[in-house]
Parts: sequence; structure tokens; C-alpha cells
Amino acid sequence: MAAHISVSHSWLVLFLCLFLMAAGLSCAEGRTRRSAVHRHLKRINKPALKTIQSPDGDMIDCIPISHQPAFDHPFLRNHTIQMRPTFHPDGLFELKEKEEEKEKEKLMLQHWHVNGRCPEGSVPIRRTREEDVLRAASVRRYGRKRRSAAAAPDPLSTDMEMGSGGASGHQHAIAYVQGDKYYGARATINVWQPRIEQSSEFSLSQIWILGGSFGQDLNSIEAGWQVSPDLYGDNNTRLFTYWTSDAYQATGCYNLLCSGFIQINNDIAMGASIYPISNYGGSQYDISILVWKDPKEGNWWMQFGRDYVLGYWPSFLFSYLADSASMIEWGGEVVNSEPDGSHTSTQMGSGQFPEEGFGKSSYFRNIQVVDESNNLRAPKGVGTFTEQSNCYDVQSGSNGDWGTYFYYGGPGKNPNCP
Ligand SMILES: *[C@@H]1O[C@H](CO)[C@@H](O)[C@H](O)[C@H]1NC(C)=O
Ligand SMILES: *[C@@H]1O[C@H](CO)[C@@H](O)[C@H](O)[C@H]1NC(C)=O
Repeated sequence: MAAHISVSHSWLVLFLCLFLMAAGLSCAEGRTRRSAVHRHLKRINKPALKTIQSPDGDMIDCIPISHQPAFDHPFLRNHTIQMRPTFHPDGLFELKEKEEEKEKEKLMLQHWHVNGRCPEGSVPIRRTREEDVLRAASVRRYGRKRRSAAAAPDPLSTDMEMGSGGASGHQHAIAYVQGDKYYGARATINVWQPRIEQSSEFSLSQIWILGGSFGQDLNSIEAGWQVSPDLYGDNNTRLFTYWTSDAYQATGCYNLLCSGFIQINNDIAMGASIYPISNYGGSQYDISILVWKDPKEGNWWMQFGRDYVLGYWPSFLFSYLADSASMIEWGGEVVNSEPDGSHTSTQMGSGQFPEEGFGKSSYFRNIQVVDESNNLRAPKGVGTFTEQSNCYDVQSGSNGDWGTYFYYGGPGKNPNCP
């Protein structure tokens, strides 16, 4: 058995060498990169108490809560984990375990749950594989957004370079508010599996909590769902978070792929697939996400659904957001990596335009902000923004059931978006 493993191991090295030579790198460079990949994997994949194999191919490691990647951060060496927020903006919320509520929520949980759960005192973390890191531009950039294209849309910019959504770049269809101090945001987000044309592209639907300026020092906390073949190696729809305190340059990452977010919950894994997914003309599924700032400790907390308080981003990670957010955005983003001015056929949301309405078009409903008095309320003065409405569009509205809502998305390439 051991001999067999070492044989296939050296075959793997040989193949990797051939692959790298084809890519114009020498084998020595390849070996250096490979050992850098291994060091990185050793750093981020912590020893597990238990591992659960998900039907989608993921390995979910149950890591003792105090061994999670956040605690590699020098500022967190002596940190006392907050096992609950001191404040919750939803008056009805109780932090007690509510088994019957959880029963109802079983539908919207994660794929790996069919094969087990993580014990109390541990947190589920999607294991990073060698091939995940090898798909990234470099070990250092693994788990991070590309700096080249600012990923948070600036709806107030008059810079057409940013707004043109040309041959390559990020495109958005969003609703937003700005001009106040915000201490959180909430939304119920319809879940789909958009088709991605090229593996270097992605499609996501999320909330952005923003502070600072879009150029250099933007602070952003982001959460939602995404399809990203580059990051995960498949086309599954996955729950994700992102944070940065310097406009995606040196700080921050997706999920728990760097030190930052402190997870306390043992049920939900960041980056794991969401199940089930809505289908066109059929059943619709949505997830709720709430992010809010604890007024006492200053940490930014995240809740998934009604019952799952996932954890928090410590206040010290941020500059502007250490105080409050100045803009909130909700909506979709895709990357267009087509050369020569043509448009990708990567879908946003359901791939349908907003006019299609419920069951066909994707939506955000009951969008809310946490105001200066720490109350959840409907946002005032909601604007909408898209770079090219013929490719991806957004339409907002409000009614009794859905509060403030919008439909958004589109197919990308089509006769009106060549
Ligand atoms: C952590 O605690 C130790 C022992 O009390 C102390 O020596 C050290 O300076 C502390 N480190 C930080 C970053 O606060
Ligand atoms: C993802 O979807 C694209 C088409 O949309 C397909 O070409 C590709 O093979 C899929 N990748 C995986 C890993 O299933």
C-alpha cells in the first residue's frame, strides 16, 4: 500500500514537471513552487478532529475552534473568542438553540451535511487541495481577488473606464444606499447556478458593506453566494465571504483562507456548496444574510438564515469600518474575460433579465440596513446601477411582503450585448 502511494506520488511529480515545462517554467522552478504550495497548505489546513467527505467532492475538516486560521494573526494571539455578540439588531432574535426552527431550516443547509456534522467546540472548514492553489496566479494571490479590477462597483463614478464594462472587467447590476452612517445590512437572496463561460470568470450575488474611497483604501465586508471555477474547481453555488481594508491590495481574502474572520459556528462551512438551487419556472430557494456591527465590542458579525450566527470580523482589521460603513450595495457581479471587445455569455443570477419576474428572474428581497440607532429598517433613497443594461440589468420596487426588493441579472452576450 505504502509503495503504491509513493509510486503514484512520483508520477504526479513527473506530470507536474511536464505540465510546468509546457507552460515555459523549468522543473526547478516547478519544484520550488510546489514546495511553496505545500508550505501554504500546511499553514492553512489545520489538523482536524474529524473529516467529513461531501458528495460534491469537498473534504470538510472539523477544526478545534481555537486552532482556526484567524489565530495565526499576531494581533489575535491573546484574543478571547466572543462566543456571542453583545447585541443583535433584530429584537425577535434569541441566541438560544431553537430546535424546531432548525428543523424548518434543514432545507437550506449544505451538501456535506448528508455525511455528518462537526462536534461542538469545532468549526467546519473546507480543506484546500493542492490543485486549488495551483489554479491561482501565485501562492500569494490564492484566495484573493485580483487587484487589477476593483471588484466593488462605484455607482457614483463618472469615470467611463470604470463604467464602460468593456472587453475585460467586472460588471455589476446592483442596488445601493449612501450618505448615512450604516452599521449593518441584511437581505434574502434567491439562489441560482449561473453558467460560467470561461474558468477564469465568476458570477456572484452578495452584500457589500463599504467604507473609505474606491481608489486605494476601500474597506469592504462581502457575503453571499458565488460560482467560481478558479477558486473551487467546479461550477457549484457556494456560500462565501470576503474582506479587505486596502481596496483588495495586500489585505483580506475569501472565506477563512487567511487570518481575519473568526468562526464560532459548527454547522455552516464557508465556501461549501448551497443546496438546493432554484430552477427556471420551478421551485425558488433563497438564503438570508445579516451583517451587523456590535456596538460594544465593535466587531462585525455575520448571520446565515435565522439561526446560524457564523462569527465575526474583529474591528482592528479595518480603518473606516472600525467606525461605520458609508455605503451598502446589494446585487450581482460577473467577470468578463473575453478579449477583443466581445462580451462573455457568463450569466448573472438566473441568466434572465429582471422583466421576467418571479420564478424566472433572480431577486434580493427584504433588503434592510442597520441605522445609527442600531435598528434594522428599510433603506431610504435606494439607487440602482449597472454598467451595460443590455447585458445585465436591475429593477427595484417595494411591497408589503417583500419590503424593498429588486430583480437583477441577465445572460451577458446576446444580440443587444454583442
Ligand atoms: C500575549 O500575552 C503574553 C503573556 O501574557 C504577553 O507576553 C504578550 O505580549 C501578549 N501579546 C499580545 C500581542 O498582546
Ligand atoms: C463548468 O461549466 C462549463 C460550462 O458552463 C463547462 O465547460 C465546464 O466543464 C464545467 N466545469 C466543471 C468542473 O464541471
